[in-house]
Amino acid sequence: MTVTIRQVGPCFAGEVDGLDMREPLTSDQAAAIHAGMDRYAVLVFRDQNIDDAQQLAFTRRLGDIEHAIGTSLRAAADYRLPTTFADVSNLDRGNRPFARDDRRRLFAIGNRLWHSDSSFKATPAKYSLLRAVSIPSRGGDTQFADMRAAYDALDEETMAEVEDLVCEHSQMFSRQLIGFFDFTDEERERFKPVRQRLVRAHPVTGRNSLYLSSHAGSIVGWPIPEARAFLRDLIEHATQREFVYTHKWRVGDLVMWDNRQTMHRARPFPADEPRDMRRTTLAGDGPTVAHAA
Ligand SMILES: [Fe+2]
Repeated sequence: MTVTIRQVGPCFAGEVDGLDMREPLTSDQAAAIHAGMDRYAVLVFRDQNIDDAQQLAFTRRLGDIEHAIGTSLRAAADYRLPTTFADVSNLDRGNRPFARDDRRRLFAIGNRLWHSDSSFKATPAKYSLLRAVSIPSRGGDTQFADMRAAYDALDEETMAEVEDLVCEHSQMFSRQLIGFFDFTDEERERFKPVRQRLVRAHPVTGRNSLYLSSHAGSIVGWPIPEARAFLRDLIEHATQREFVYTHKWRVGDLVMWDNRQTMHRARPFPADEPRDMRRTTLAGDGPTVAHAA
């Protein structure tokens, strides 16, 4: 089958036809997907009724996996899925929705803020692949913002100002924004900030993106309130409607996005309904800035 892609978002995001993820991915198909990701930054695959093993095999054909270890408040004994998957569901080990005030749920509500996956890791993620296993009766959309278009639309003065800035990212910063401060000493250690460039050039196309995320809580060399106000303005700029694609999930969808070129956020849904979303992640090539050993 030949892979074809047509644009579905306002300025980016493509829907892919001619691919069945139950079949092994050929090198031609893999090349077409990478080229599609370089161009569209978000790819939608509808009606892929695959299982975990098939999602994992498909992901591995595209690159190296980033494992999800210690990135949520789930204890290892609570994991519902192996660490090859990020469990983006609201479900406990017994597949029951978390209680409304469960701190694992409250921490995960941070995903409703605009972010780029794993921007809080020294080597942040390349692609994320999210599959809908079950969806709530309403809500729960995922929105994506094109950070290349956002960069291109900056005025000249701001473009010059952001060029060499370095931010510090931590999951604690994003949670503070929603009033979640309840971290143990072990979690504070685990969620220590890492540095990321604010502007990233795409390794293939050379296009610049604003590398923003709600995990960014400071700019190196700037006073904190000034940095946070500046970052807030940039996020507001970057998430204007003309830069945003909203994905309305159907069971069997898989959506893949490039974390280097986009931000995304989940939208709310009823707390008592299961939303079972399973993410595989491709590891990035390396840090965006040099880190002290
Ligand atoms: Fe995410």
